Amino acid sequence: MVSEKEENGAMQECPADRNIIFLDSTDSTNIQAKRLADEGAPHGTVVVAETQHAGKGRAGRRWESPAGCNLYFSLLLREGIVPEKASMLTLVMWLSVQEAVAVCCGVQTQIKWPNDIVLNGKKIAGILTEMHLQENAAPYVIIGTGVNIKAQDFLPELENKATFLESASKEPISREVLLAKILECFDKNLVLFGKKMDLSLLYTTYNEVLVNLGREVRVLDSAGEYTGTAEGINKEGELLVRLADGRCKQVYAGEVSVRGIYGYV
Ligand code: BTN
Repeated sequence: MVSEKEENGAMQECPADRNIIFLDSTDSTNIQAKRLADEGAPHGTVVVAETQHAGKGRAGRRWESPAGCNLYFSLLLREGIVPEKASMLTLVMWLSVQEAVAVCCGVQTQIKWPNDIVLNGKKIAGILTEMHLQENAAPYVIIGTGVNIKAQDFLPELENKATFLESASKEPISREVLLAKILECFDKNLVLFGKKMDLSLLYTTYNEVLVNLGREVRVLDSAGEYTGTAEGINKEGELLVRLADGRCKQVYAGEVSVRGIYGYV
């Protein structure tokens, strides 16, 4: 990807035993990681692409993936996969991206539960986690992450919702150095997750950077809509929402969408 300087950064930062595949172009790093997984690629394999022509977002949406300005990568996990716990791996990646961005770029971002990292109220990253259950083999998980880094033209419908990291950093950001730091943070956080197979050892840190914390949120689920105050996540990754009558609801990531009452955040 891009400059020699960036490549050298990656060479210095990434552990030599990590299987990282850099591609100029692919349909989607998640799709390519699945192909490689099905051919036997090892746990921890990472697929990175300069551009994607069929980048996937959540809920069947497209993830615009122009060349030269963003980070697009997918991480294959095979070890210790417990299907009912897999959704928590997304939160482990969120924390790792947030932490790496702070350390590498000096930019403080916040996590908007369940699925965004925000900078000044606008989204800078998206994660799509896909679990693959197989009949005669162990399940595996692919965590695909896209981070907006450099200035770019967003689609008109995203202009007020999306931003990029360099809008807040003093120095240009090396995508490879940032990738190496995200993977390092993820490895560390995955160990903490694996000790309890939940977020017991991570949720306090998560709540420190949770943009929803203490704010009024609107929860939309199949039963309807209600509002309450977000009190943070629990060790299962559920958002705790205090209702006006004092009851506390545990909101599961897969069931609802949460919006701040005022604007996007
Ligand atoms: C979202 O909708 O917020 C999730 C977007 C996830 C995008 C990333 S980019 C790398 C990986 N490959 C894909 O096709 N999607 C994910």
